[in-house]
Amino acid sequence: MVELEKLKQELKKVNAEYAGIRDVPVEKRAEFGRNINAKKQEILTKIAEAEKAVLDTEVEPIDVTAPTAPNEEIPTFYSQAGGSSHPLMTELDRVTEIYQMMGFDVVEARQLDDEYHMFDSLNFAKEHPARDGYDTFRTEEGLIPPAHTSTMQHRVLKAHKDRLTQGENIAVVVPGRVYRNEDVDATHEHTFYQCEGVYVSKTCTMGQMLGILRDFFEKYYEQKLNIRTQPGYFPFTEPSLEFMIEKPKLLGGKKGDFLEMLGCGMIHPNVLKMAGINPEEYHGFAWGGGIDRLVMLRYGLKDVRYFESGNLNFLKEF
Ligand code: DAH
Repeated sequence: MVELEKLKQELKKVNAEYAGIRDVPVEKRAEFGRNINAKKQEILTKIAEAEKAVLDTEVEPIDVTAPTAPNEEIPTFYSQAGGSSHPLMTELDRVTEIYQMMGFDVVEARQLDDEYHMFDSLNFAKEHPARDGYDTFRTEEGLIPPAHTSTMQHRVLKAHKDRLTQGENIAVVVPGRVYRNEDVDATHEHTFYQCEGVYVSKTCTMGQMLGILRDFFEKYYEQKLNIRTQPGYFPFTEPSLEFMIEKPKLLGGKKGDFLEMLGCGMIHPNVLKMAGINPEEYHGFAWGGGIDRLVMLRYGLKDVRYFESGNLNFLKEF
């Protein structure tokens, strides 16, 4: 190794010497060039030999059952210097911080789940075509990489239902990575991030839900926003809504330019019942929406595929 480094230094010197050709009288330049080239070739041959020697010594079989010697050097392949957090992670932190300031607890979603949490516990009837709408992947064992963060609703409700009997509310947000078996294009990825919100109390209303959502989006985009809703359909909420914001002027939006940001609604009584919460006594609302879309709007990104691309030029812009 040391030998190889020395040779590379020598090569650098010879290259530097070559730059001096300008100061050599014209009639001597040919000879000067020939000499330098000969030296250079000699070093290059040595470098090739040294590199081969390194390969010959480093590429060797080992005894895979032997314990690691205590002082053996641990190889490091990539330097971590100059690395940074992925833009989606930075933004996801911002999102959860805003919700935390609003009083929500944060629970992280799973990356592998099951049929019960993906569908049954969310009031999807068996064989209901709405199940197909989620383009779910399945492992050979029948497990499901979740297609939405709503898979966590049942767990959150069950885990925190005692708060209700103690006179408190359930207020939890769940960020998570989700997966869908769909054709990938500038606005669709097979892998993306969502954030779910769940709130349950004795007296909650749809107006409070819309207030919380508008507050969140205004904090995230740091400006006042107009909101709008339209009816939607989700088996786990009744009624269900699609929540839209008017594209912020500062981000190039025109008046009346509304963008759908998430799905939401009042938690279906069956979902509360399955978690052991009495829907006669308690009510809840829930929402879930994509993080990628939120971030794209904030930074004016046109192609969602950048996020999963590992493209360093893209990542370095953040
Ligand atoms: N899980 C839904 C989706 O990914 C979004 C959603 C809709 C979440 C309504 C909710 C909800 O919590 O109440 O399409």
